[in-house]
Amino acid sequence: MTALELIRALAHDAAVGIVITDAMIDLPGPAILYVNDAFGRLVGQPPGNLIGLSPRFMQGKQTLRSQLDTYHNALTAGVRFHGYLTNYRGDGTMYRAEIDCRPLRAADGRVENFVSFEREVVRRLGRPMTGADGRYVPASVGDDQIADALRSLGVFKHLWNGLQI
Ligand SMILES: Cc1cc2nc3c(=O)[nH]c(=O)nc-3n(C[C@H](O)[C@H](O)[C@H](O)COP(=O)(O)O)c2cc1C
Repeated sequence: MTALELIRALAHDAAVGIVITDAMIDLPGPAILYVNDAFGRLVGQPPGNLIGLSPRFMQGKQTLRSQLDTYHNALTAGVRFHGYLTNYRGDGTMYRAEIDCRPLRAADGRVENFVSFEREVVRRLGRPMTGADGRYVPASVGDDQIADALRSLGVFKHLWNGLQI
């Protein structure tokens, strides 16, 4: 069983959006190989319509190029990207996405795929804390069976000095 097959099986019913691509970073890649139902709901499109597309289809006028450059650099370096992007749904509506994207490596260390966990976040009410991590809260909270597994992987946790906080 490959890591990809395992994630596909576990991701199916997850409340959080999960998208898996191939490892081709530059255009026309990365190509979407799998999305779960929650990801389809997040972007307002049937999951089957998204296979083969590049995740760039979610970008629009207010998606910041500087953040995409940070994302691109993380993919190239084979490290995790955690950040907040402005994404667009199929109907053109905009939403703020918290994204935790990680490389999946073969036994020999080669990056074979990327997996991204994505959820909608909204601005926190009241005085914002410093930094994007304090500024947003999840639009809804999933408490399904894989929520614990995601927590133990530190998904959506901000990393500070190598420590998860
Ligand atoms: C698994 C995965 C999920 C991604 N999800 C998004 C996303 O939700 N929104 C977005 O703007 N870019 C997303 N990207 C990033 C773009 O595909 C692309 O890498 C980014 O625009 C930087 O590359 P570029 O400089 O070639 O555009 C995702 C990438 C991967 C590998």
